[in-house]
Amino acid sequence: MTEIVSLPIEHWDQACSPQQQDTALQALEGGSVVLLPHLAFPLDDTELRFLDPSLADAGKNISLNPANGTLQGSRDSLEPLRGMVERYAQSSASLLRQLLPSYVPAIQTGRTSFRPVEVEGRTTSWRKDDTRLHVDSFPSSPTQGKRILRLFTNVNPEGRPRTWRLGESFEGVARHYLPSLHRPVWGSSAVLQALGITKSKRSAYDHFMLQLHDQMKADASYQAKAPQHTQQFVPGSSWLVYTDQVSHAAMAGQHLFEQTFYLPIDGMSDAATSPLRVLERLLRRTLV
Ligand code: SIN
Ligand code: FE
Repeated sequence: MTEIVSLPIEHWDQACSPQQQDTALQALEGGSVVLLPHLAFPLDDTELRFLDPSLADAGKNISLNPANGTLQGSRDSLEPLRGMVERYAQSSASLLRQLLPSYVPAIQTGRTSFRPVEVEGRTTSWRKDDTRLHVDSFPSSPTQGKRILRLFTNVNPEGRPRTWRLGESFEGVARHYLPSLHRPVWGSSAVLQALGITKSKRSAYDHFMLQLHDQMKADASYQAKAPQHTQQFVPGSSWLVYTDQVSHAAMAGQHLFEQTFYLPIDGMSDAATSPLRVLERLLRRTLV
């Protein structure tokens, strides 16, 4: 079962003790969720209007591109909205420096997203349906083995929690689907990249991760019967999780910030816990 490890951090730039840093590192790499129950992201009076879900275009996310600082996914191109999301990106970077300093030299900053749309009742394709248990893997964004570390903060103004389901360990998921995983078709990753379907090369690792993601989501019996529990993340709290490793599903909630980081496995304390190394061990082959 996915454990929740809490740390009493209250400010984004709060100095963390070596013990807190070690606790966070071990918990994350071990597949737990690090909960920061008192780490809120207060909005100022002028920002409250951005909680309006109609500001988001068809998708669920308003997101900041770290490469060029532009905001995508909103018809409202106002600088104050961009500024709010940018402030969350800076706050996240500051927390990372304090809580996970050993990751700083290797970590890469991904998108920062603001999700003002209610999760419950949203209609999407099964593949994009995050109310089904899954590990994160995205068709157009291969990671080639890099870790996906995400920070979330619930900013719902009505006291509504972000309700997640948390599933079994990564190794449990991988063992469950091992018999039905197929090898990539030879040459297919070059074709996908040449056609612009993937932003970079889909490695054998990405191929297997995408199969895990898809097979979990498509499997109604697994969704119902897999070991799992419900976790409520209340407004005013933040949490960190390796979403490529931890089986998760977002069931309900509205108004969330999320920052993505990518970490090459050499930057980890124990790379043997990474999905790449676990899959390589189970499949008895290298996957890069
Ligand atoms: C997800 O990563 O599957 C969605 C998380 C959320 O929006 O709460
Ligand atoms: Fe996810």
